[in-house]
Amino acid sequence: MKKIQLFVPTYHIDECLAEIRQCLEIGWTGMGFKTVEFEEAWKKYTGLPQAHFLNSSTIGLQLAVKIYKTKFGWLDGDEIITTPLTFISTNHVILFENLKPIFADTDDTLCLSPEAIKSKITPRTKAVMYVGMGGNAGRLKEVRELCKKNNLILILDAAHMAGAKYLGQQAGSDIDCAVFSYHAVKNLPTADSGMICFQEKELDEMARKMSWLGISKDTYARSLKGEYKWLYDVEYLGVKGHGNSVMAAIALVQLKYLDQDNEKRRQICEQYNQLLSVCPEIKFVEYLPDCVSSRHLFQIRVPADLREKLIVYLNSQEIYPGVHYRINTEYKMYSYGLLTCPNAEQAAREVISLPLHLQLTEEDVARVAQSVIEFFEKNKI
Ligand SMILES: Cc1ncc(COP(=O)(O)O)c(C=O)c1O
Repeated sequence: MKKIQLFVPTYHIDECLAEIRQCLEIGWTGMGFKTVEFEEAWKKYTGLPQAHFLNSSTIGLQLAVKIYKTKFGWLDGDEIITTPLTFISTNHVILFENLKPIFADTDDTLCLSPEAIKSKITPRTKAVMYVGMGGNAGRLKEVRELCKKNNLILILDAAHMAGAKYLGQQAGSDIDCAVFSYHAVKNLPTADSGMICFQEKELDEMARKMSWLGISKDTYARSLKGEYKWLYDVEYLGVKGHGNSVMAAIALVQLKYLDQDNEKRRQICEQYNQLLSVCPEIKFVEYLPDCVSSRHLFQIRVPADLREKLIVYLNSQEIYPGVHYRINTEYKMYSYGLLTCPNAEQAAREVISLPLHLQLTEEDVARVAQSVIEFFEKNKI
């Protein structure tokens, strides 16, 4: 039986190799050259005003927190409101910068609920970290208004949102800072890389220094100007987080196919939705009409006591789903937030992500859906 995996990246191999070849031929594989080309291509594609290419979105999220902390003089222990239903990067970056993640609850979109955020605001709250779960924007507009009203910075963890549209624009437009992931299993797969997109040019310039250890000028810019190559200042205690030309070469090719790839993802999700609609045990994630999701994930909710059994059953059929995510407050370092977000905790017990990638055929999707339906027929509640 053919194995059906959760995620399988698809690369346009010959085109990627041709782009990488250019880097190898001119002998420039680091920051600059293709990274600049890709930043420009991403700005053009998204309409976002700034874009700085990084080696991951994790470092982008950390830089976002670090830069705002530096700019506004936030103090250690100041608070960022965040979701417990996410990949651990989202919350680790807050701790890395000695700030406190304050967990707020999610709604049926699996994104943060504006009401829950509001209830967690204190005099020490500085920002909201909002995850567009699976490509879903949830009630981002309301969150943006809430942040404006309360003078809070809004950081969008857009790891799942490459190509997602919200209110007719790329999700992330009109947000203080949006951070995208181009990790190998994301919608725009490279191997590992990401992009930080500030609204403000000044912060983009700061990110360029901070992502290269705080060094004041990048080597590529200096080499173009024929300046002294060794003379620079170090303005910040930065990180080594900038991206490189080999990753950017792959990204440039993959970007050309992003819209068509996301359309295929949406078609697969539509097929799942139709086939699984006969199954009363399944609850679907809410999608509001103002979002055209990038559909990084196809998540459904099933009765919590049957989820593990369903996963085992699917595995026996050579189908390998995933779970996004274990609630972060179950991890020791975040356990102070346990039992504070009942909706997210319930969702974390119920969610399962069915296989979703570009190599799935209609028959594969039908086989997955059929196996889920069969499972519930055998396990009638
Ligand atoms: C919600 C979310 N945020 C951040 C990240 C981190 O992305 P990267 O691997 O590019 O650092 C991921 C990756 O899985 C993610 O799913």
